[in-house]
Amino acid sequence: MTPTEEKLRSCVASVRRITGFVPRVALILGSGLGDYADSGAVEVECRIPYSQIEGFPVSTVAGHKGQFIFGHVGRVPVVIMQGRVHYYEGYPMSDVVLPVRLMHELGAGTLFLTNAAGGCNESFHPGDFMMLTDHISAFVPSPLLGPNMESLGPRFADMSEVYDRGLQALLRETAAGLGLTLREGVYTQLTGPAYETPAEIRMLQRLGSDAVGMSTVCEAVTANHMGMKICGISCITNMAAGLGHEKLSHGEVQETADRVAKDFKKLVTAAVEKMGI
Ligand code: HPA
Repeated sequence: MTPTEEKLRSCVASVRRITGFVPRVALILGSGLGDYADSGAVEVECRIPYSQIEGFPVSTVAGHKGQFIFGHVGRVPVVIMQGRVHYYEGYPMSDVVLPVRLMHELGAGTLFLTNAAGGCNESFHPGDFMMLTDHISAFVPSPLLGPNMESLGPRFADMSEVYDRGLQALLRETAAGLGLTLREGVYTQLTGPAYETPAEIRMLQRLGSDAVGMSTVCEAVTANHMGMKICGISCITNMAAGLGHEKLSHGEVQETADRVAKDFKKLVTAAVEKMGI
């Protein structure tokens, strides 16, 4: 067994000593959705702070709590990651994606990713929601580097449809049903932690990016390797560098995320409920 696999097995055992809950959908909460589990949408069964899981990475970003929440959204059993781990915090990539592997091993076959992102597509506005139709992973190390964990997935994973078409249709329908505009596009992950320069954003635009952020893609690659069904929504919290008038700040990101959090929660809740039908 590789050290990464050993760590995964020990984290699974750690969680299983606390709960036998078997989730179907794994949900990773980005900025603005941090308090989702306490908004009444989730019937909470159990909370496990990351610090209680031996060897588990603990997020250090302001506004990110670090715990797993097990419970139900509608009739769907879910595991929610309240506070994700970012590569820019200094963790090895294998630790950044450990939670996704853990949630899969606990039983989740579907991964719902959310994040805050900068808009590269000039027709977007701060506060828009964008469903991920594809991504660009080329600027961050692959989470699949190193010995392949054959028990999880193949050495050379296909990435031609990371974001499940059925789930994309479900998200479109759900947003339309709620009267919410759902934009669509390609998300690019950079390492951060600095925001991009205007020249970098022009580069990303030419590569076909609609949104940019510092998370999500490595998690999607890992989940796709394991055969999970994946969907994702970005909250466009700001126009990317050089496209707006203001300097970028985490305060602005948080402010926009908070402003549209109510709609974001509605969309996520209705979509997860539909995943149970
Ligand atoms: N760039 C990168 N990450 C982000 C941004 C951005 O403009 N906004 C929110 N997360």
